[in-house]
Amino acid sequence: MIPAGVIEDLKYRNSIEDVIGSYIPLKRAGSNLKACCPFHSEKTPSFTVYTGEDGHFFCYGCGAGGDVVSFIMRMENLDYVPALRFLADRCGMTLPEDDVKPGGVTRTRVLEMNLTAAKFFRSQLSQPTGEAGRAYLETRQLSGSIVKRFGLGYAPDSFSALRDHLRSAGFTEEEMTEGYLCQRSRKNEKSIYDCFRGRIMFPIIDVAGNVIAFGGRVLGDGQPKYLNSADTPAFKKSKNLFALNYAKNHASDGLILCEGYMDVIALHAAGFQNAVATLGTAITPEQARLMKKYTDKVVISYDSDEAGQRAADKALRLLDAAGVNARVLSIPGAKDPDEYIKRFGAESFSRVLSGSKAPFDYKIEKTLQKFDITKPEEKVRAVRSLCEAIAAIPSWIEQDIYAQRTAHTLEMDEKSIKMEIERILKRKAAAYKKERREQILRETSGSSDRINPDKMKERTSNSLEQMVLGMMLAFPEYIEKVCRKQLLTADDFYTGFNKKLFSTITECYQSGGFDAAMLSQFFSQDEVSKAAKYASDRRKLSDNGNAVFMDAVTKLHEEAVRIREKTAGGEDDLATLIERRRREQE
Ligand code: UTP
Ligand code: MN
Repeated sequence: MIPAGVIEDLKYRNSIEDVIGSYIPLKRAGSNLKACCPFHSEKTPSFTVYTGEDGHFFCYGCGAGGDVVSFIMRMENLDYVPALRFLADRCGMTLPEDDVKPGGVTRTRVLEMNLTAAKFFRSQLSQPTGEAGRAYLETRQLSGSIVKRFGLGYAPDSFSALRDHLRSAGFTEEEMTEGYLCQRSRKNEKSIYDCFRGRIMFPIIDVAGNVIAFGGRVLGDGQPKYLNSADTPAFKKSKNLFALNYAKNHASDGLILCEGYMDVIALHAAGFQNAVATLGTAITPEQARLMKKYTDKVVISYDSDEAGQRAADKALRLLDAAGVNARVLSIPGAKDPDEYIKRFGAESFSRVLSGSKAPFDYKIEKTLQKFDITKPEEKVRAVRSLCEAIAAIPSWIEQDIYAQRTAHTLEMDEKSIKMEIERILKRKAAAYKKERREQILRETSGSSDRINPDKMKERTSNSLEQMVLGMMLAFPEYIEKVCRKQLLTADDFYTGFNKKLFSTITECYQSGGFDAAMLSQFFSQDEVSKAAKYASDRRKLSDNGNAVFMDAVTKLHEEAVRIREKTAGGEDDLATLIERRRREQE
């Protein structure tokens, strides 16, 4: 089974708009993209690509839906693993061999081996073989002391240098492959070769000081730019942060969360020792909680391109869910913090930092950048977009404060802002009612559901199940929550399809991580589309907060108890009946 971390990487590197856009022409429609569906014939586009933080597609015409992996499965007519391999080839990644059985390699051995490797990489910098690496570090203006502090090194451009070194230090081939330092050759089964070649090596060190993994950057423009250790017995990338080993001691005023290793290093070198970064993937709920262990305040300092800004939205959401007070930086005149500091210096960055924005102010700023509010029609759209955002906030008090702020910033009358919010809320409520009515109509119109035939029998359960599953699929932090707190079991699900969907998600999660792409391994394409529909139904609604989720969980559980009692009650009745008959006959 291909681990969730690898799939996450794959999806990160193969953005859904790129991939789908290479098959069919996509047209922008608001914040999404549209096209005529490649899976059924149509003249008006009902195939929508959502480019948000978890990219997915859905066709409102034929119901096909899913993520980039299931798109490739359909489009290229491939099975699950071949589709993953197809995407891996597309972005220059290598998948871990599917047939390596987890052997008896221990965490301790991998840690020992990593330390040996880190020393080896470091020593290369003072050898003739390390010349290219040394020169590269210089072009990046990294001082000797910062190279030392971060334990940077160089993996020589050789297929066997590290392997031979580790072998002579007593490590086995199995340890090297399980620890993701070497991999088995596809051509010659018997030989293994170095994973990292001709790359600057960044050791990833946990808070206890162990070298748990590596990231490696090409010198110059090769692909992939960074290669990162896959998950190993000593490493789960979704649960660690780069430089947290240092930053944890400087976290009292908060942490700075960056996208890149180089950003973190530049920040530390400039005196901001509270900077950390994720490890080549978007932020995970575990990483948000890990930060919460050390601080209540995080400043998100991502790249200024569109991808970076989108990633910032996700980070805001996950940090908020973890109870962290998160703010966002926009870095004017540079693509990332590293470039900013090189260009404008540490003091300037300090000023930028103190101007970090609370989530709604950040939203205002982005809106003002997007629309030219000197033009009336654009101003209307800006106001609408802000009012939509306010309408999505559960707290009335916050709504009120932000309505005032919006009125002030856009020089509008506060009353009209409030009326607009009111109108949006009414429209949403009406749309929701209509949707529910149509759903009930569809369900009662006798058109039986092929994929989940049980749903007619317990409609309340079914709709709660869809809600819970939709939220888990759309917002994976709920999966983690359900599992960690054991909020539900498969027995709480009445309908067959939903029960299987729930078990699959939680079992994957517990055995190393879940990614929506994995559904394609266990379900038919129609079933995957149905799951995608659950998620997209939830995303459309404004309130997906914790309270809504917990309420659905409680109701679903109560419903399950009610159904069980009803059935058990039936048996009781039967027992009484038989008993009465027996007495009658006596
Ligand atoms: P960036 O492309 O922004 O790189 O990716 P960077 O850190 O600014 O590095 P330089 O300045 O170009 O050298 C940000 C982070 O995304 C991950 C790495 O963790 C990187 O630090 N990444 C990026 C990968 O894992 N693989 C890639 O191919 C690219
Ligand atoms: Mn950079």
